[in-house]
Amino acid sequence: MTAPWKHVWITGASSGLGEYAARLLAQQGCQVSITARSDDKLQAIASEYPNIAVYPADVTDAARLKDIVSQMEQDHGPVDLAVFSAGAWFQSTIAELKVENVAKTFDVNVMGVVNALDAVLPQMLARGSGHVSWIASVAGYGGLPLSAAYSGSKSALITMAESMMPELKKSGIDISVINPGFVRTPMTDVNEFPMPFLMEPEDAAVKMVDGLKARKFEIAFPWQMVAILKFLNHLPYWAYFKLVKRLI
Ligand SMILES: NC(=O)c1ccc[n+]([C@@H]2O[C@H](COP(=O)([O-])OP(=O)(O)OC[C@H]3O[C@@H](n4cnc5c(N)ncnc54)[C@H](OP(=O)(O)O)[C@@H]3O)[C@@H](O)[C@H]2O)c1
Repeated sequence: MTAPWKHVWITGASSGLGEYAARLLAQQGCQVSITARSDDKLQAIASEYPNIAVYPADVTDAARLKDIVSQMEQDHGPVDLAVFSAGAWFQSTIAELKVENVAKTFDVNVMGVVNALDAVLPQMLARGSGHVSWIASVAGYGGLPLSAAYSGSKSALITMAESMMPELKKSGIDISVINPGFVRTPMTDVNEFPMPFLMEPEDAAVKMVDGLKARKFEIAFPWQMVAILKFLNHLPYWAYFKLVKRLI
């Protein structure tokens, strides 16, 4: 199977969803530029594929992202698909909701996407083509207990995508927001609570890439988790809280 993109840029590609999406897109013939902070992990992945190139960066460093995008476009041509997977997660009670953890969550999850967009979108707008996407979460459909920072940051990513969609479409740019449920990655390996409908990252990457190929606005999986959370978030608050308070 081949993919329609020539040059894909993926952030958060040193592990988890970003890594498996990078591997799958490279297997499908795309040139893939991968970004994260861990140069060693990125190099190890790239050593397995002739068409993966490494551009390490911290997504909170806006200037560095502009530099690496300019370098990767010089090396491999225009980026025609960008997938922003870099993310951070801290579970916390309200008592443990430390300012630095909330700031880091919003810096990486929200500003990391904004910085990456700012590095790649102007060139796409000038060309009148391209596809941008980022990973939010089903946890962004509404506020989940013990996830104030994470749910808040992921809701921001979903509404940001909704806001941008009509204008980008008009400019010839596709936009997708990817909302996974639980996927087995280093991020979820630390969780001690039950994770219903947990998916393997290889399967999640297939869902992501298939959805991107279909140019879907929302790519959400697994369907059971999506259905439950969409249902809960359409309930009146009294019913929503009655159900979700059982989670704590
Ligand atoms: N796994 C799930 O169940 C699940 C569910 C819903 C949504 N998501 C979302 O999916 C995305 C990927 O998560 P994952 O599960 O694949 O977790 P993961 O394996 O921990 O991957 C996170 C990636 O983000 C990178 N990263 C973190 N901070 C960064 C920074 N400041 N600058 C650049 N890169 C940074 C990490 O690399 P370095 O540490 O090398 O920088 C790593 O490559 C996240 O946005 C997450 O919120 C995950």
